Amino acid sequence: MAFIEIRTFPDPVLRKIAEPVKNVTEEILKLSGDMIETMRLSNGAGLAANQVGVPIRLITIEEHLNKQENRHIVLINPVIVETDSEETAEEGCLSLPKFYEYIKRAKKVLARGVNLEGETIEIECEGQLARAIQHEIDHLNGILFIDHLSPVKKDLFKKKYLKGGK
Ligand code: NI
Repeated sequence: MAFIEIRTFPDPVLRKIAEPVKNVTEEILKLSGDMIETMRLSNGAGLAANQVGVPIRLITIEEHLNKQENRHIVLINPVIVETDSEETAEEGCLSLPKFYEYIKRAKKVLARGVNLEGETIEIECEGQLARAIQHEIDHLNGILFIDHLSPVKKDLFKKKYLKGGK
């Protein structure tokens, strides 16, 4: 497993709509292993493939968020099938270092995707794990958490972040 450089805002790859993955190939297995390593070394809760410059629909989530199984999650072509209630909590992103904001998201989600064995799986979860899955799926659609901010807060972000540099 190898560390891959994480792309940071405003890298255009973060705004690309990621392509669906057709088959779980050796390349996909290697990429997901490298993403897990990268996520761990960066102390991130999750990572989407386009954050490491590969615009395909693949996300990884840290094991501490997966309390049911206590192992990391790799989800290919993930989708949110159902959501329930809302919750506001603080979020950060490895592509927006040192910037944190409160974001409203669904509290509970039912997510569906394919695992590395090529099987379709469903994950029913809430709280931090539900938030991480929504955040990472947003990445696959070229959406960053700052896009959920009010115009005023987004302006503040631009002033603060772009002035300070990466
Ligand atoms: Ni992120």
